[in-house]
Amino acid sequence: MTVLLSREAVRGLQSPLARVVEVHGALVSTQELARELAHAGTPHGTLVLAAVQTGGHGRLGRSWGSPEGGIWMSLVLRPQVDARVASRFTQTAAVGVAKALWETGVEARIKWPNDLLAGGKKICGILAESSSEHAKPPARGRRLNYVILGVGMNANLDPGDLEVPDCEVTSIRSELGRDVNLLDLLRALLSNLEVELGRIGDFGSVLEDWRSLNCTLGEKVRVQRFGEVLEGRAVGLSEEGALLLATRDGTVELFEGEIEFLRQGADV
Ligand code: BTN
Repeated sequence: MTVLLSREAVRGLQSPLARVVEVHGALVSTQELARELAHAGTPHGTLVLAAVQTGGHGRLGRSWGSPEGGIWMSLVLRPQVDARVASRFTQTAAVGVAKALWETGVEARIKWPNDLLAGGKKICGILAESSSEHAKPPARGRRLNYVILGVGMNANLDPGDLEVPDCEVTSIRSELGRDVNLLDLLRALLSNLEVELGRIGDFGSVLEDWRSLNCTLGEKVRVQRFGEVLEGRAVGLSEEGALLLATRDGTVELFEGEIEFLRQGADV
């Protein structure tokens, strides 16, 4: 039986990303509560956790199974960066989460743009949602108001507890053959996220780590984006983290999309 996280224990981690901590038994979605708190002015470093989510969701509005035993969390971040770099948060967070998983003993790999896989199956998803506004004169352009960074980690649960086919998902319990201490896991997540988010301005070096932790580059893939299907080989990342896909019609730069791996022998 998993020991659930308490607010006091999480506050005891003394993470700068968890200056304000909300821990709930059940929530519809930590992402939604974090957004409400952000609108109400909660500071940078607000962490919302729920033992269970009844309406957890992922990218593209997909539902995200969130039974007891996982880490379902959303962080409110108020970074002092230009809104044009908002897309960096997903990959920067993926590097931090991957490193936390390795520290926990799970050999995780990043599938572009925001999935963490172990043994080829999804173990964690990341959802970065941002809000921006026109900068106040004399500044120009847009400034990032806040980012809500959601992390859904399949920890002490069985893949069968999730609402997706078992062959596509895994958990830390399945990978290690044992449960982990959720507070230790949260500590590893927060400290690695803090380090990686702290160097988001040096995105080139974040992407270097992303490359060494990824399982996407070099693969033949099918990409769905905005109702369009593209096939090709994932050959690289742009300076801002877009996936470079070599297709028969040339190289395409993708900032969004859902990828599916194809056989290496596939004719693309
Ligand atoms: C994805 O893979 O599409 C992203 C999944 C993100 C799930 C997390 S769980 C905590 C937070 N609350 C949500 O409703 N979603 C994110």
